[in-house]
Amino acid sequence: RKPIRVALLGCGTVGTEVVRLLTDQAADLTARTGAPLELAGIAVRKPNKHREVPADLLTTDAEALVASDVDVVVEVIGGIEPSRTLLLGALRAGKSVVTANKALLAEHSAELFEAADGSGADLYFEAAVAGAIPLLRPLRESLAGDRITRVMGIVNGTTNFILSGMDSTGASYAETLEEATRLGYAEADPTADVDGFDAASKAAILASLAFHTRVTAADVHREGIAAVSAADIAAARGLGRTVKLLAICERVTGEDGQESVAVRVHPAMIPRSHPLAGVSAAFNAVFVEADAAGEMMFYGQGAGGAPTASAVVGDLVAVARNLVHSGRGPRESAYAALPVRPMGQT
Ligand code: NAP
Ligand code: HSE
Repeated sequence: RKPIRVALLGCGTVGTEVVRLLTDQAADLTARTGAPLELAGIAVRKPNKHREVPADLLTTDAEALVASDVDVVVEVIGGIEPSRTLLLGALRAGKSVVTANKALLAEHSAELFEAADGSGADLYFEAAVAGAIPLLRPLRESLAGDRITRVMGIVNGTTNFILSGMDSTGASYAETLEEATRLGYAEADPTADVDGFDAASKAAILASLAFHTRVTAADVHREGIAAVSAADIAAARGLGRTVKLLAICERVTGEDGQESVAVRVHPAMIPRSHPLAGVSAAFNAVFVEADAAGEMMFYGQGAGGAPTASAVVGDLVAVARNLVHSGRGPRESAYAALPVRPMGQT
């Protein structure tokens, strides 16, 4: 089959790792999808700084790249514009989209889905919430037969890195934020992390999927961690507690018996024995409660280039399978790549 041509928009912390995975895993990805995934071009702002990728793939004209002969657009630029316009253009032209952009999805998912529905293109965004952790597809697909009542957890790696650093080593807020930025966890503008905007966008996406409704970032009550001091953390420790920034999405019933959805993000003191208290560094953890399934917890690396690229490329494989097999899943050959070693043989 002819290659699936991929336009990559952005080649920063996440984009660089997407290129690495597509290169290092090329043969396996071809086996899993049934067609080679070919990078058709990479849009950036400053091509000269990108020595790590082939120069002939780089362009500053993202619009022309999207309009060219590509099948899939992967967006890891971030922010609202130009990402919104570029992705709407791709979807309306029937090109499937994979994005890690929670800010965009939490504000504009209605028009993005409308564009995708209109053309039949796919829109995947697993990397937008909780980095590498497979969370959105379970909410959207595996739990679609159940009634979810609550989704609650730590969904911002940067603030968790800061809070757990301040708690365990007594490092300062400024030091830990600088380190989180250096490690590629923080947003381009880290106030999005510390003021809770990033977690609020993610909470809106989680609530929309869990409760099958449309929640935007503006619907989320938001408090960040900027006001959390070393003294607050020490006081919490004295009480056998720790401070975490939580996102809480709940189905609530009013006095009139009317059901609605309430979504909030704020720092909370939780007992040190609580499973979320042990979630450190840039890890994320999310509890889901559903009527039939009961409680479950999703845990893993919530930020960083490689973990996020894992989710992006996973989505890319899903889109490619849909293109190659019309959504009927991988071929048998996808399972034939590695031999099985008999027990006892080294
Ligand atoms: P980043 O390191 O700042 O990279 C952004 C990239 O976009 C850069 O390569 C930049 O080009 C390019 N870019 C910016 N404006 C552009 C434009 N107008 N046209 C073409 N290219 C443009 O960001 P990141 O950390 O990789 O994050 C990317 C997205 O993934 C964001 O939506 C973020 O929220 C999301 N995300 C990030 C993480 C994480 O841990 N970092 C995790 C999950 C999701 P230059 O390099 O030339 O400046
Ligand atoms: N800035 C985000 C965080 C990246 O720290 O969680 C992952 O979405």
